[in-house]
Amino acid sequence: MPDTPSQPTAREAVRVLVLTASLRRQSLNARLADLVGRCFEANGGTVTVSCMAEFDMPAFDQDAQGDQGFPAGADALRAKLEVSDAFVIVSPEYNASMPGSLKNAIDWLSRFHPQPFNERQCMLLSASPSMAGGNRGLWSLRIPLEHLGSRVYPDMFSLAQAHQAFDNDGNLADRELHRRLDETVVAFMDLVEASKHYPCAKRAWVEFLGEPDPAVDRVDS
Ligand code: FNR
Repeated sequence: MPDTPSQPTAREAVRVLVLTASLRRQSLNARLADLVGRCFEANGGTVTVSCMAEFDMPAFDQDAQGDQGFPAGADALRAKLEVSDAFVIVSPEYNASMPGSLKNAIDWLSRFHPQPFNERQCMLLSASPSMAGGNRGLWSLRIPLEHLGSRVYPDMFSLAQAHQAFDNDGNLADRELHRRLDETVVAFMDLVEASKHYPCAKRAWVEFLGEPDPAVDRVDS
């Protein structure tokens, strides 16, 4: 097993939903989601790993929402998001974009009030047999999530040649890559912990956006 570079540290409670967006039984993204879940737990997080298959929902139809309300799958996913401080999506890339089922789920969930993506910290990962690791799909996924107010972590992790990347224990065979994954997870957890438990960081951010004179750039003042 590769070395785990970071040791569990005392941290304030952080609850993370790790959602894999492939419906496939032998999914590479599900394997990466399991590994990421273990990284969060090893670093002191409380983790729920879920699969989109648990949240079945029909194609979004505004009339259906008006007539029948929300499908059970959408409500179940909303509930899981709402008890989480942060969510992680591990998604395949389909045709240089996100899977349609994932976009459909985002559309359904965007109709709830309060809207569950808003102000929630988020991290994106992908796995693909290709050399790019499905990274273009994550850029497309970033757009609706940011639109809905999720705080999408700048660093994304895309596992290239994922069909050859795992060892028998489900870790990354490339120890340096494993270390970088762990490092990214820990950095994201630090941010989630800070945004939940140290609200002064958030207040400073809001004040920056609310500065009265938009012509005065912070770096110039
Ligand atoms: C793919 N695949 C793929 N891969 C990629 O890197 N870029 C792409 O644009 C696509 N497009 C694409 C479209 C469709 C419809 C399928 C079914 C597949 C290949 C994909 O990455 C591969 O099948 C992964 O193994 C899918 O992820 P899971 O199911 O293993 O998690």
